[in-house]
Amino acid sequence: MLISFEGIDGSGKSTQASKLRDFLLSEGLKAELLREPGGTQVGERIRHLLFEEEMHPITELLLFEAARSELVRRKIKPLLSEGKVVILDRFVDSTLAYQGYGRGLELSLVRELNGIATDGLVPHLTFLIDTDVRTALSRKQDKNRFEDLNFILKVREGFLKIAEQERERIFLINGNLPPSAVFKEIKKIVQEKLWDLKKH
Ligand code: TYD
Repeated sequence: MLISFEGIDGSGKSTQASKLRDFLLSEGLKAELLREPGGTQVGERIRHLLFEEEMHPITELLLFEAARSELVRRKIKPLLSEGKVVILDRFVDSTLAYQGYGRGLELSLVRELNGIATDGLVPHLTFLIDTDVRTALSRKQDKNRFEDLNFILKVREGFLKIAEQERERIFLINGNLPPSAVFKEIKKIVQEKLWDLKKH
């Protein structure tokens, strides 16, 4: 099972992703948490490049996709075939929201490259942790170059549109609540999904 967490910077998604990993491990399941961009040697080097340098939006898009291709082919697919639950801190919806809705690149181009990078792999379940933009940004101390207020407002709107279009896969979670309340909701949904998968 592949589960992704999405949301703007400071939304609390990384906290929730690691809570879910810990919960699944405590239930005796095999679970692994990976982050994007990163998670492989090539991916971590691309991550540095993306944070340190200004670049053309198309270059940025290609670098995120290159890091993803490595992660999918070298890590995610092998882990899934070992029967592990793979939890991702960001995946394809981040690229649609940040490079598509945020930077203004063609959504069809982003979708096409997402398809190439993932080799068609789609998460079974995605949690969009939706948090008020000002609250989220105030949680971050060292701002990276993706954390400008006006940019993030567009990204959040983008995430909400994506979630509206894919109601089966994407669960919208209110990230303004305390972390334990947010996790309670996530846990319930994961338990239902795991149960469904076992039945089929
Ligand atoms: P993240 O690792 O969540 O940042 P942090 O460690 O500071 O919490 O994400 C890195 C940044 O990259 C984040 O600002 C969002 C951006 N990003 C994109 O613009 N497109 C993408 O496809 C991905 C995966 C991330």
